[in-house]
Amino acid sequence: MAAPSAARSLLLCVMVTAFLHHLQLQIPPVATAAAASPNKTDGRDDGRGKTFSLTLYQHETINKTAYMVVDGVTGAGVSQTTTPFGTIYVFRDDLTVSADRASRVAGVAEGSSITTSLDGLQSLSLAKITLHGHRGHRGSVSVLGGTYNTKPSDYPVVGGTGDFAYALGYVRSSPLDLRGRTVTYKMELHLYWPPYAHYAPVPHKPV
Ligand SMILES: *[C@@H]1O[C@H](CO)[C@@H](O)[C@H](O)[C@H]1NC(C)=O
Ligand SMILES: *[C@@H]1O[C@H](CO)[C@@H](O)[C@H](O)[C@H]1NC(C)=O
Repeated sequence: MAAPSAARSLLLCVMVTAFLHHLQLQIPPVATAAAASPNKTDGRDDGRGKTFSLTLYQHETINKTAYMVVDGVTGAGVSQTTTPFGTIYVFRDDLTVSADRASRVAGVAEGSSITTSLDGLQSLSLAKITLHGHRGHRGSVSVLGGTYNTKPSDYPVVGGTGDFAYALGYVRSSPLDLRGRTVTYKMELHLYWPPYAHYAPVPHKPV
């Protein structure tokens, strides 16, 4: 005997809710996993997910490693800390192991920023951060988020490749010195892998 359709949709609704609840229970406590492991220099695996933290230094020199490729249209003018609304900036900056620009290069940060505030201080940034085997780690992390030119900014990690496949977390970028032609940013990577990432297939290198 077929159930009346109202009863059927109620049943379906209950099943979907139960399924979602089940899923929710499987998802690890996201924010606490990273916060609970204040290991600033390396990673660990506590069964709730692997964590990895690392600090590098990004050096950006205008007209050498970073260029304004589209002029902005209005708002603040070009200054050391501001760019007109709509400005598009492209960069490819070395990442070194210490704040000294002459220290060992561990990777590269490449990306772009679009000025999105009329005071010229904020932008939307996207970047790919690649490590060339630093501390045995090879791969990249992609980030997307808002930049406040004169203050630290947190970028959500949208994913990764190589050793960082399935990584989540955030990257904090803080300007150390905004004067002069080369600006140095402290870049702190805080990554974690939720437990289900352990069961995900390892992606093959694209050809
Ligand atoms: C950080 O991680 C490394 C490598 O797993 C470990 O040897 C070290 O004891 C950890 N430090 C802290 C403060 O947990
Ligand atoms: C960078 O190059 C542009 C175009 O040549 C120039 O207008 C600008 O003044 C330069 N900026 C710096 C800081 O050198």
